[in-house]
Amino acid sequence: MKFYTLKNDRKLPAIGLGTWKSDPGKVGEAVIEAIKVGYRHIDCAAVYGNEAEIGEALNKAFADGLVKREDLWITSKLWNNAHEKDKVIPALQKTLNDLQLDYLDLYLIHWPVAFKEGVGFPEKAEDFLSLEEVPIIETWKKMEEAHEKGMVKSIGVSNFSIEKLKDLLVDANLQPEVNQVELHPLLQQEELLEFCDNNSIILTGYSPLGSGDRSQDMKKDDEPNLLENETIIEIAKEHDCSPAQVLISWHLSRGTAVIPKSTNPKRIKENLESYDVELTEKNVSAIRKLNEHYRYVDGKFFEMEGSPYHNIYDE
Ligand code: A2P
Repeated sequence: MKFYTLKNDRKLPAIGLGTWKSDPGKVGEAVIEAIKVGYRHIDCAAVYGNEAEIGEALNKAFADGLVKREDLWITSKLWNNAHEKDKVIPALQKTLNDLQLDYLDLYLIHWPVAFKEGVGFPEKAEDFLSLEEVPIIETWKKMEEAHEKGMVKSIGVSNFSIEKLKDLLVDANLQPEVNQVELHPLLQQEELLEFCDNNSIILTGYSPLGSGDRSQDMKKDDEPNLLENETIIEIAKEHDCSPAQVLISWHLSRGTAVIPKSTNPKRIKENLESYDVELTEKNVSAIRKLNEHYRYVDGKFFEMEGSPYHNIYDE
């Protein structure tokens, strides 16, 4: 197992179980299976719609003595419809209730995008609140308050650009520990990684395997398939491992955390065993050439006509 030490000295296990797109009815078993084979980091979010089932599974895992609460790292995320200052702590409390926990190890602002109360996913321009109406720093102050109250041990962000991180670093009392972003060989984000390294912010990569199980309306017709990439397959053959393990191990070689999603017991185990795959310098430089700044999660769903949000990854 590999850990990254945050600024507050807490230790984040490098590989976590992703739960985005993990179906109700399956996610609970996936979490139990993951804990059994040695995962100590579970990545959740209110918007994934499965935290109550994960809470049941965690409760069972603790009751059965599979793991102690203090040995498990649980992350969750504040959804975009709860950025207003009176909504942050209640949203966090709902997540804690669903997960049946007294505290989270890490709570992230899911996106630098705000919706009106009650909007799950925006359908029209009026569903949004602009960042002038609800500045990130206002939301962040409430994240800091949650930390002060002991509801969360660490706080951070997700989908934040360098510019947004810079703004936050100037105004924050408590600096973000983590930025969770899409990260894989087709989207290597070197500048963001360098910025985060220089500011002791750990990057966590989502969609490390290309998130092939996204719903059809989130996919483009001509998407590249990371798991079938020739370079990745070649490297997998060299190490006698799977392409997924190469993709996961690549994160460890760059000092980023990674949260592959699976609800399949065999693949859950396989993904954790990526700890045993050590890429060579040659492998890493071959993978470096694959970078094409390609995003699977392109954020266009926040950029409909009349929306106050544009180029959220750059601005
Ligand atoms: P499944 O849940 O059936 O295992 P991402 O983590 O990038 O969002 O990708 C998740 C997708 O990758 C899911 O479709 C998941 O399917 C699949 N997946 C997870 N682990 C592996 C693996 N080791 N090999 C191939 N596909 C995998």
